[in-house]
Amino acid sequence: NYYAILMAGGVGSRFWPVSTQEFPKQFHDMLGTGDTLIQKTFHRLAHFIPKENIYILTNERYNDLVLEQLPEVTQKQVVLEPAMRNTAPCILYASLKIQKENPDALMIVAPSDHWIEDEATFSKNVEQAFEFCASNDALMTLGIQPTFPNTGYGYIEFDKKAEKTIKPVDQFREKPDYDTAKAFIEQGNFLWNAGIFMWSVKSVVEAFKGNQPNLFKLFESGISTYNTDAETDFIKENYPKAENISVDYAIMEKSSNVYVIAAEFDWNDLGTWGSLYDKLKKDENNNAVVNARTLVEDASGNMLRTKKDKIVVIDGLNDYIIVDKEEVLLIFPKSKEQDIKKVLQAVKDKFGEQ
Ligand code: GDD
Ligand code: MG
Repeated sequence: NYYAILMAGGVGSRFWPVSTQEFPKQFHDMLGTGDTLIQKTFHRLAHFIPKENIYILTNERYNDLVLEQLPEVTQKQVVLEPAMRNTAPCILYASLKIQKENPDALMIVAPSDHWIEDEATFSKNVEQAFEFCASNDALMTLGIQPTFPNTGYGYIEFDKKAEKTIKPVDQFREKPDYDTAKAFIEQGNFLWNAGIFMWSVKSVVEAFKGNQPNLFKLFESGISTYNTDAETDFIKENYPKAENISVDYAIMEKSSNVYVIAAEFDWNDLGTWGSLYDKLKKDENNNAVVNARTLVEDASGNMLRTKKDKIVVIDGLNDYIIVDKEEVLLIFPKSKEQDIKKVLQAVKDKFGEQ
């Protein structure tokens, strides 16, 4: 009864110039290991979920990329979105599809671009969650011990008195402002939402029905197990009408049956060049280097990525992101990594679509 849906429709604009609209980060070998992020995620799940039960949710423009990078996946498992509407609509769409096939399904919903190295503990925690969801009406999230008031994450307030690994959630707050995030962390009984969810298909469909009745009504009648022509036409017509909303705002903040399992493994959402830097092996000067061959003098803390085997000489530069791609060269302070999104917009305005 185990199923997975992998969300692979984001653009990853803070990883520009490697990640682009045409070729987003999940389809790149960001870590320099030979596997792309979506391949890593797929194989992590395939250890304990039947391969044919892993669905990939993505924009229709990435269909070929998915099939090329995951040859073990059939077209039936690729759920295509004709428009970008964030995570709630695509999760409901895929859940209705899975429910048609197996009403007793237990599902994990996972982003396709996260870093999780300890696969054994990851599967252990997910299977614990599945066991709980099999006998409880629960929306379960994976919680991460927070280290600073990150305003880009969801925060989970858990019941202090609960002793078990799986704790009831008092409050789920998506992306609080800085002061609120700071207060949450000082309070102590908050975890970050990893953006990885586990639930029975029944519970998640009920959650959408109760909290997002319009979205539910929009999809309820037209979804089938296979990607039939009728369904494709239905989705083409109706999907763009869906509200643009993330699953966090759509159901997690609104539901009272939310539970958290604290992750016992190291996790990173690889959201920026700096978070990638943190996870990569460093050279003797603390530079993270992907693909390049380097000659380094008086330079440390840099995140460098080039074409395979390119020779790079760096002298007198610290804490920079240096990314060399055919037509673009980015040299940008790591401390301003969040601004890459804005810079990309400025580049588009000046030079056209990137
Ligand atoms: N298929 C599909 N379609 N996938 C999408 C879409 C879409 O329209 N939009 C986003 N995704 C994918 C992204 O590629 C990513 O893997 C995942 O869904 C989450 O989207 P993000 O845009 O990265 O979400 P976020 O970072 O703002 O916040 C989420 O993740 C945080 C942890 O990384 C939330 O769940 C937060 O609560 C959480 O803390
Ligand atoms: Mg993210």
